Amino acid sequence: MRRNGIAVHETEVSRFRALSWFAPAGYADGCLLRANSILADAHSWPVTTGFKAGELEGVNLRVPMALDLTIEKLVYGGEGLSRVDGQVVFTPFVLPGEVVHVAPPASKKHAQRANLISVTKPSDDRVEAGCGIFGKCGGCHYQHIDYPAQLRYKRSILAETLRRGAKIEFDENRIAMVSGDPWGYRNRTQFHIEGGKVGYRQMRSQTLIPAEQCPISSPKINEALRKLHRLVKDRRWPKFVTSLEVFTDEVQVQWNVQEATQPVAKHFFEWLAREVPGTVPGALDYEVNGDVFGIAGNSFFQVNRSLVGCLADLAIGEETGATAWDLYAGAGLFSVPLARKFGKVIAVEAGRAADDLQRNTLRAGVEVESIRQNTEAFLLEAGDAPEFVLLDPPRAGLGTTAVERLLELGPKKIVIVACDPATLARDLSGLTSRYEVERLAMVDLFPQTFHIETIIGLARKD
Ligand SMILES: C[S@@+](CC[C@H](N)C(=O)[O-])C[C@H]1O[C@@H](n2cnc3c(N)ncnc32)[C@H](O)[C@@H]1O
Repeated sequence: MRRNGIAVHETEVSRFRALSWFAPAGYADGCLLRANSILADAHSWPVTTGFKAGELEGVNLRVPMALDLTIEKLVYGGEGLSRVDGQVVFTPFVLPGEVVHVAPPASKKHAQRANLISVTKPSDDRVEAGCGIFGKCGGCHYQHIDYPAQLRYKRSILAETLRRGAKIEFDENRIAMVSGDPWGYRNRTQFHIEGGKVGYRQMRSQTLIPAEQCPISSPKINEALRKLHRLVKDRRWPKFVTSLEVFTDEVQVQWNVQEATQPVAKHFFEWLAREVPGTVPGALDYEVNGDVFGIAGNSFFQVNRSLVGCLADLAIGEETGATAWDLYAGAGLFSVPLARKFGKVIAVEAGRAADDLQRNTLRAGVEVESIRQNTEAFLLEAGDAPEFVLLDPPRAGLGTTAVERLLELGPKKIVIVACDPATLARDLSGLTSRYEVERLAMVDLFPQTFHIETIIGLARKD
């Protein structure tokens, strides 16, 4: 590298590295050494060999420095937290109690992110990852953790998030834990395609990491992936299709184009149908607990094939009564069973799944009034509250409008199914002024990842 016209060779830079331990902010951002302050003492430090005093005056050299850290705990987002001189450092692929060697942390104002180089003292919960591209591909964060331990860590993170964000003190051991198969569970997977290769995007980057197989995806998805490897090299592959999603119930296969720079011709899907047995031209009929849900292309549907029925059972629980609302209803996964337990059910969905919702409730022969509307608008217009409200919002959570309106309407019972504990805690911090926690469950819909699915039941206090 050249600085002020002076060639600084790697060997010389690495000698700076040794010196960087003496710099006050050495742990942060590699260490910013002012060359002139070193050169003031040019004869005492071997690091300046090769330079004459004054030559590097005014030059800021960012000298990277590796660190040894002790991991305090895992935090939501998949990383381990440690502290160096009061600064928080986050490192992926680590475990609490581990001593790890990390690359120089990247600069951030309040917290640093440092990449793992090696584990000096491993945790007893550390295991060999089940996938060759773990750590490179952006999909999994926890394959280095024994599965029962993943569940324990997630439960602690959930309890701590609710404690900090919503002041809810709920004994961690009373959180019901529900889990299924930790591998091969995904019924929907998105692949990226580039230069005749198929795979995933690297973590926090656009770089393609080719994937031969994906151990968290179902066998049928892996079969489709093997076919894709051959198809993307075929001259018939439309090069402008750069991302494709596979959705399956292990018999039928639905292909959803996710990224393409021009419309995809019908014969592309006909070709896929000839190559991949089970390919359906439109909606895929997915059976859950004896009901069949038609899911159109790109409609939302729960991803964990072994827990989807269980999630619906747990969300509804023992609730029965005259009236219930299913808000953020998707294709009707909860609306259909709710309608068998309540006299009247209103289901609200704003997205693509609204058509599926209407069709699926009709098909199940249950009475559900399905409304295509935003939950917030529905709540603002609603008059009387039902006895029971079930809400399953996207990652962003309910938000202020919905929370305030729920507080005003005051249904007797509320259940929230949440895929982000942080936004759940924010929403609960409002709702707990009028509601108390009746039940709390963690359903591990996303093993090997940091994602946490929560079901929380609230009862009105007054
Ligand atoms: C997490 S999914 C839950 C779907 C359904 N409960 C299920 O389990 O299959 C959230 C759903 O809410 C819909 N949605 C997102 N924002 C919404 C809003 N503001 N109002 C109504 N529906 C919304 C999405 O289209 C999606 O179908």
